[in-house]
Amino acid sequence: MDKPTKQPTDRPVTGGEPGPAAAAQPATEKPSVVLGVSGGIAAYKACELLRRLTESGHDVRVVPTASALHFVGEATWSALSGHPVATEVWADVHEVPHVRIGQAADLVVVAPATADTLAKAAHGLAGDLLTNTLLTARCPVVFAPAMHTEMWEHPATQENVATLRRRGAVVIEPAVGRLTGVDTGKGRLPDPAEIFEVCRRVLATGQHPAHDDLAGRHVVVSAGGTREPLDPVRFLGNRSSGKQGYALARAAVARGARVTLVSANSALPDPAGVDVVRVGTALHLREAMLKAAADADVVVMAAAVADFRPAVYAPGKIKKRDGQEPEPIALVRNPDVLAELSAERARTGQVVVGFAAETDDVVANGRAKLARKGCDLLVVNEVGEHKTFGAEENEAVVLGADGSETPVPYGPKEALAETVWDLVARALSPAV
Ligand code: CTP
Repeated sequence: MDKPTKQPTDRPVTGGEPGPAAAAQPATEKPSVVLGVSGGIAAYKACELLRRLTESGHDVRVVPTASALHFVGEATWSALSGHPVATEVWADVHEVPHVRIGQAADLVVVAPATADTLAKAAHGLAGDLLTNTLLTARCPVVFAPAMHTEMWEHPATQENVATLRRRGAVVIEPAVGRLTGVDTGKGRLPDPAEIFEVCRRVLATGQHPAHDDLAGRHVVVSAGGTREPLDPVRFLGNRSSGKQGYALARAAVARGARVTLVSANSALPDPAGVDVVRVGTALHLREAMLKAAADADVVVMAAAVADFRPAVYAPGKIKKRDGQEPEPIALVRNPDVLAELSAERARTGQVVVGFAAETDDVVANGRAKLARKGCDLLVVNEVGEHKTFGAEENEAVVLGADGSETPVPYGPKEALAETVWDLVARALSPAV
């Protein structure tokens, strides 16, 4: 026996974009990942997931099903992974691959997972190398389903998914969007970068969710920055990238929540397993937030909402006129969405969290803002030319309406997101 049965790894995993430092890890230290690929058109997207995994220092064995090879051939999987590829248990029988591959893995991720593969996994069938691997793996298993909406919603598939989740597998909710052919709906494979994030998190924690303290909760997060149109080609906007709100959404999914993300003009890919509602202006954002908050346990306003919008929208492009000064732009106030959500809580016990960007007197201004907005928690961070907007890291203090003050040292936005959810989980009354 060349390798004992694996337990979840506690090795730190290099995250984010694949980088040269990670690739330089000694081969023996590399976490071992099995990428199962089943037969759906989204198999081509698994090549991108494979690239991310290998380039961030993971040793990846690809185990496609025979139907997956109709979409992407063996040569591609073999060249990208650096390992031979087999679909059946009959290749290299002396190495007992149907048992060894699963035993040696730190993580098995199946992307795309078809309805057929989910059914086989739920029922313990073992007709090929992938299903054998799923039966022998003792490490965390992640499924990223992709199929047509009807197949995803069918009670058979839903029961199979529930069975797999009950046994501890991570089944990522499919994304909503364009499917094969002319169809649109739920069933699309999440963005490979987002599946990679889930794998990274599961490998780092050895379990999923990391804590399930938000299980059964609906949380609504706003992210990005609103744009207030002046004319068909111009708008008043701000520099928010949406990274903090997206990190909050991802972290909440990992802690078991159902998450709605109201995203204003962010270019980031949809986080896996999150319902994303896209908005443009502050008024759109208000409408979407009020709707989503109606049955929410937690509302987080991480979006940068424009305080003002042009009083008049010019339906044609505003032209310059020779010899004339431009007309001043008249502005009107936008509603304060956070203050409104705080004042008119849609549910008793709903926890409302705001963000504040301050350039000076950070804590004093934050306290005043917390009182003015009426929220339970306010995350205050200092902004400036090179701070916070678009950055990967930031530093903040979370102020509580109860007078508490939780400093969060300079670090990744993910770390701040976890602190926010720790405080929210404490503030929530027990789930009924
Ligand atoms: N916010 C909101 N609606 C607005 C403006 C802000 O809901 N029209 C929310 C933001 O999402 C954030 C919080 O209020 O959670 C604080 O945003 P910030 O811009 O710092 O506060 P302002 O109220 O705009 O105060 P300031 O006068 O400092 O700009």
